[in-house]
Amino acid sequence: MSNPYATFPKRVTICEVGPRDGLQNEAQTVSAADKVRYVEMLVDAGVPAIEVTSFVSPVAVPQMADADEVFPAIRKREGVRYIALVPNQRGLDRALACGVREIAVFTAASDTFAQRNIRMSIEDSLNVFRIVIARAHADGMQVRASVSTAFGCPFEGDVPAANVVRLAQQLLDLGADTLSIADTIGVATPNQVIEVVSGLLDAGIALDRFGLHFHDTRGTALANVMAGLQLGVLEYDSSAGGLGGCPFAPGATGNVATEDVLYLLNGMGIATGIDLAKLRDASRFIDGVLHGRVVSRAYRALEAAASRA
Ligand code: COA
Ligand code: ZN
Repeated sequence: MSNPYATFPKRVTICEVGPRDGLQNEAQTVSAADKVRYVEMLVDAGVPAIEVTSFVSPVAVPQMADADEVFPAIRKREGVRYIALVPNQRGLDRALACGVREIAVFTAASDTFAQRNIRMSIEDSLNVFRIVIARAHADGMQVRASVSTAFGCPFEGDVPAANVVRLAQQLLDLGADTLSIADTIGVATPNQVIEVVSGLLDAGIALDRFGLHFHDTRGTALANVMAGLQLGVLEYDSSAGGLGGCPFAPGATGNVATEDVLYLLNGMGIATGIDLAKLRDASRFIDGVLHGRVVSRAYRALEAAASRA
């Protein structure tokens, strides 16, 4: 009998988004010092890539208003990707001043969501990114581009996979180095993941150019990660503790939890370089700061085992 695991990647990259996607939706303001500590703890756990903060309008996302203070204060570890979101040239200027080496630009696969989130149509966002990406590259930065609402939009409903593939291609044509294809509101089911990922691959977009970003609003996030693994996808965004949500996506809850993804990958023998117990320590820290907001099931199981020991 052939071994189905043989087709799975032997190693994947986890991009930790807790400090950005995780915290941006929290009503309680987290201090800059606690954010710095949180990022450093996550990196200590072995996280190879991390979304640290966003250089966005402080009116749009008040929790990220201290980006200029947080980013430079983090003790950086060689080889780790410290990513910051940038919506426009103003954000790029701020990121450059803070020493950011990798930015993430972000648009959406549905026009209404793009309009609500970044106050631009998809087309307008591409015109802004053309300049932002060129300037970022001229400064030697890496550019990641996120496609929000790739599996469904809170305002428009279904999003055709063909639209996602077209937008992905446009972002790469503008010079984006990598893509993150996001289920912003947590509606995707594995058949959609198969449809979108095979669409990207059929369009000639290689597996080292894109990753997947799931929210667990309806409990399908890990199943969607599994679908990605079966197709050989090599990068997954997740947030420690399962914090998260987008303030502009009504009803959306947290990202798939890093602990839950790690439990799955560890069990399957797929390497990440991340130490689950240390990652749990980072979640325990932020759970204390936020007075109990962590929802990850693998985290809860680890904590229950620790209290029995
Ligand atoms: N950083 C800080 N302030 C910024 C900014 C940036 N990157 N871009 C714009 N601003 C400020 C402007 O200076 C202006 O301030 P003022 O009113 O004091 O003069 C104000 O924001 C409005 O500027 P404008 O260019 O008209 O932006 P907008 O109102 O059309 O908003 C965005 C566009 C992209 C800046 C805003 O929608 C945004 O930050 N969205 C991010 C949302 C997000 O992070 N979502 C979660 C990620 S999925
Ligand atoms: Zn998200």
